[in-house]
Amino acid sequence: MEKRQELYAGKAKSVYTTDDADLLVLNFRDDTSAFDGKKVESLARKGMVNNVFNAFIMQRLQEAGIPTHFEKQLSDTESLVKKMQMIPVECVVRNIAAGGLVKRLGVEEGIALNPPTFELFLKNDDKGDPMINESLAETFGWATPEQLAKMKLLTFKVNHILKALFAEGDMLLVDYKLEFGVFKGEVVLGDEFSPDGCRLWDANTREKLDKDRFRQGLGGVIEAYEEVGRRLGITFPG
Ligand code: C5P
Repeated sequence: MEKRQELYAGKAKSVYTTDDADLLVLNFRDDTSAFDGKKVESLARKGMVNNVFNAFIMQRLQEAGIPTHFEKQLSDTESLVKKMQMIPVECVVRNIAAGGLVKRLGVEEGIALNPPTFELFLKNDDKGDPMINESLAETFGWATPEQLAKMKLLTFKVNHILKALFAEGDMLLVDYKLEFGVFKGEVVLGDEFSPDGCRLWDANTREKLDKDRFRQGLGGVIEAYEEVGRRLGITFPG
């Protein structure tokens, strides 16, 4: 497999074509952004930590029956993935109130959400990733009702698998965002799963171990990501 030209550069990852039309290389960069790209910094080791972390989680999900785009880790900062037609809809599940939900509804941060909530957002930085619903997604052709049903089912399956996994490391999976694409007609989990796209709290102290450390200027961002990995038994290079 040969890496060819850059296809697209996102806020934290760059995507390259390969000599195989069905495969892409994801390069995890150190760039870290929040607030729709309004706060940007480079954090040493972040690309490597997120690539290794994502590879671990994607393999766990795959083993548990979730179809993912992940093929294999290629290097410290690169992974090989299936080339999909991305669905421009972000799926968010929340087990505990935090972030956007607290801001929007004025509920208290930290309250348990039973049952967990499921929200859809349009992936569109210029519009600030607005909240949408299934009707809007269908009307504007962002996703079909069948795809939306599959995305919801898979997002809740991921919740079941990862809540248990993080609990083993004494962590609470507060919320997370997933993105999906279509590969050979099948809805498949794409993008990444890392502390950049979820909230994780220490189960006892409720210390934040995720990107909120960056958003809120708490410091120790990558140290927290590595701590999460360490608790799951991941060893990071270097
Ligand atoms: O900001 P909000 O509370 O809606 O985010 C919910 C979850 O989705 C958080 O874990 C956040 O990190 C993630 N998210 C993301 N990318 C976005 C929006 C939210 O990873 N564009």
